[in-house]
Amino acid sequence: MSTKAIVHQPSAEVYEKLGQALRSGQLVAMPTETVYGLAGNVFDEHALARIFSAKERPAFDPLIVHVSPAMLEGGDSLERLSELELVDASALSPAAASNARALIGAFWPGPLTLVLPKKTKVPDLATSGLSTVGVRMPRHPVAQALIDAAGKPLAAPSANRFGRISPTTAAHVNAELGDTISHILDGGPCTVGLESSVVHIAPDGLVTLLRPGGVGLGELERALGGKVSFETHPYAKTKAQAAPGMLESHYAPSKGLELLPCPVTSLSDEQLQALAQRAQGLCLGVLLFKGDAKTVAQALASRLGGLQVRALALSRSGELEEAARNLFAHLRALDASEAALLVAEPVETRSGLGLAIADRLKRAAAPRS
Ligand code: TXA
Ligand code: MG
Repeated sequence: MSTKAIVHQPSAEVYEKLGQALRSGQLVAMPTETVYGLAGNVFDEHALARIFSAKERPAFDPLIVHVSPAMLEGGDSLERLSELELVDASALSPAAASNARALIGAFWPGPLTLVLPKKTKVPDLATSGLSTVGVRMPRHPVAQALIDAAGKPLAAPSANRFGRISPTTAAHVNAELGDTISHILDGGPCTVGLESSVVHIAPDGLVTLLRPGGVGLGELERALGGKVSFETHPYAKTKAQAAPGMLESHYAPSKGLELLPCPVTSLSDEQLQALAQRAQGLCLGVLLFKGDAKTVAQALASRLGGLQVRALALSRSGELEEAARNLFAHLRALDASEAALLVAEPVETRSGLGLAIADRLKRAAAPRS
């Protein structure tokens, strides 16, 4: 692969240089605790256009804007977001403002995006013409330092080509976008491993989870002391208004991925034979939810009489945080392996990160239109 991207290690000099690059409208792939993002100055329409073109992302998909802790210092968080010309706090009822403050207090910095009424200064390109803007404060110190070096809130979608698996290392970003972008800032592997939870706060105060992610539904409800509704995107009434995090096919490997109805070792011989056939008798890639991948691969290979099996486990013990951290890297590794067909075990629990992992697997397996 031809690549023109430079992978930078964080240093004072590098922050200075990349901050300047961002101020002049260039893009920088930056680490966050969730996934790597492709960042540009949110107030620079040329930078925003570059983001959409590098990702081959359709314009109907709104971007998330990233702020640093320093940007919100010295005042009420919503007032500061207003002064930054991002959020129109005056459009929120007292109930909505109080819910927004409670969520900011509980989860920022961290994997939570709040969708709030926007100020007119936020370009339509960033929000796909919506009257709201998605804002989050990443926890990753390298992301925070880069935002401060730029001195601007940074719009950043995940740094992958549209519809593909999100990157959780600098090397993944290089594989996805290395031939189209110039700068990748390496902050190590992402510790959460899947995207932020996206939460819409309506002007009347109603809170809706639009995309399950790094903060669980139960955690959100505890912080608010009340129910959070979880539905498909309220804006996705027409395809032109839908957001791809909410599109059926997303996070997709290039090979076929099937979701199994049960753990792979519980499949009948008949079911296994059918999978072997769909893998053209060559190699089957298996994403285990938990367990010892090597033992399972050997057991399957012997039941399948010679078919090669490549297995990876999201977590040996079934721990959800570990599973989330490994999800995209393992999908990517299986996609790059010799496997002709990929299958994934179901996630055991829908609570906490389980909901987000199940959501990503469902979309990764969805047929592409
Ligand atoms: O963890 C993350 O959120 C990562 C890192 C880089 O911060 N970013 C990320 O961005 O996942 P992206 O572009 O892959 O996902 C953005 C999604 C949209 O597809 C949409 O679902 C939702 O966030 N979103 C953003 N702004 C919105 C808005 N105004 N209304 C509704 N949904 C919005
Ligand atoms: Mg994305």
